[in-house]
Amino acid sequence: MGKVLALKGLSKRFGSVQANEAIDLDLNKGEVLALLGENGSGKTTLMNMLFGHYLPDTGSIDVADRQGSLQPLTLGHPQISLTKGIGMVHQHFTLAENLNALDNIVLGTEPLISFKRNTGSALKKLEKIMHETGLFAPLDVSVGKLSVGERQRIEILKALYRDVRILVLDEPTAVLTPQEADDLFDNINTMAKSGLSVIFISHKLREVLSFSQRIVVLRQGKKVGELVTNKTNESEIAHLMVGGGVKSAERETCTPGKAVLQLNQVSITGRSKRDSLFDQSLEARAHEILGIAGVSGNGQAALASLIAGLEVPENGSILIDSSEIEKPTPKKMIGAGVGRIPEDRHHEGIIGTMNLADNLIIEKLDDQEIQNFGILKRSKIKTNAAHLCKSYDVRGPGVDAEARLFSGGNIQKMILARVFEQNPKLILANQPTRGLDMGASAEVRRRLLDARKNGAAILLISEDLDEVLALSDRILVMHDGNLIPAETRDRAQIGLLMAGTAA
Ligand SMILES: Nc1ncnc2c1ncn2[C@@H]1O[C@H](COP(=O)(O)OP(=O)(O)O)[C@@H](O)[C@H]1O
Ligand SMILES: [Mg+2]
Repeated sequence: MGKVLALKGLSKRFGSVQANEAIDLDLNKGEVLALLGENGSGKTTLMNMLFGHYLPDTGSIDVADRQGSLQPLTLGHPQISLTKGIGMVHQHFTLAENLNALDNIVLGTEPLISFKRNTGSALKKLEKIMHETGLFAPLDVSVGKLSVGERQRIEILKALYRDVRILVLDEPTAVLTPQEADDLFDNINTMAKSGLSVIFISHKLREVLSFSQRIVVLRQGKKVGELVTNKTNESEIAHLMVGGGVKSAERETCTPGKAVLQLNQVSITGRSKRDSLFDQSLEARAHEILGIAGVSGNGQAALASLIAGLEVPENGSILIDSSEIEKPTPKKMIGAGVGRIPEDRHHEGIIGTMNLADNLIIEKLDDQEIQNFGILKRSKIKTNAAHLCKSYDVRGPGVDAEARLFSGGNIQKMILARVFEQNPKLILANQPTRGLDMGASAEVRRRLLDARKNGAAILLISEDLDEVLALSDRILVMHDGNLIPAETRDRAQIGLLMAGTAA
């Protein structure tokens, strides 16, 4: 197996952030390499230098030519990287929505005038690629009408159509159901067997261990490990990723108590099926985590707004502790004991331009502890904040600093502190660990399990199926505005429900 790529001493700095520091990385022909690291560890930056989007501060790249001999790559030119056989499928898709797949794929490879003339040969070439790789997508439908899985296949086909020999996929499974992800990796393996070299970026340990031959781990811009996949294990990799042990939360057995939240046949009609709820019922009990699995955009937002009191159901009823909440508002829901960890923590969770201390009391402004006849008790608010920051380990520029200046993980801890201090009966946790690093995620999960132990009912909405499986006592799968009980813990079975294709 010949080497097709050698990155040597690549560094890139953005202002005060050393995004990549002297990184070496080799890739062999037909190899599937996983590039693993937490958010912000420098994965995308490294691949953007390979693809020519960024010019490295130092270092060089050698790429094999068609004969297989390594040649220096001219850096900082995407068009050159592409002609040398390097293709990248980005985290955010770049297809033109109003064009069909065929036009999207061929666009830019041929002069516009000859383009129409050559559609026949383009189609032929594409059909051959589809048959060889198993990556099928409708070619004559405008891309705007296709699912994310189909769009991603088109992005990959687009790269393959350009005869790339090295394909980089940036977090390719973030938007896929477990089955779609497994199918994608099957296709990747087929491609690798026929000689394509693949680098896929991921922060999911499970898929990295299942689908790569080698793993390169980045942490804070540095390469901290290079492992042969079948000679390592989850804990070794996790250790490398975070630079220390991460305690995973213990889930003790709890006996569920009485129903805290009951939804009886509630409906919300959104703009599409995907922002709607159709006649849905559920029950969340004390001492219980009810997990809502599903690919985002299947009605989770409608469900969350309903429980937050941001939306009034068109029919049906919502009960908390067996009493009906009529015409719910956020205030009524908070009053009834609902605590909320919102999906968009930066916009819905905090007021960025308000200081940390004030953010910690915005849900209890009526409280006598905080104000007297409308006059805020400043020193109380500050002591409260100092105390909460200590017990929830919120770190950053201090309680007087604007909330927006804290990192995502610390903002989330701030929100947890505010929510849990109220001893809520029901906690709505919507994507509570999305975008957080492993340490902060473990902390959030531990807090949720503590709340469960102390008797709260928790409604956990998460697109991270591993998280739902690890935390939940019961699981419902959300698809197209419907909640389907998962009578199983089997990933594949749940995946079928997520895709809406279970029998
Ligand atoms: N264009 C940019 N300008 C400034 N900072 C950037 C830019 N791109 C990335 N960074 C910073 O570099 C670091 C690494 O980012 P990135 O490569 O995107 O990480 P990853 O893909 O591993 O999540 C982060 O701190 C990020 O904020
Ligand atoms: Mg990235």
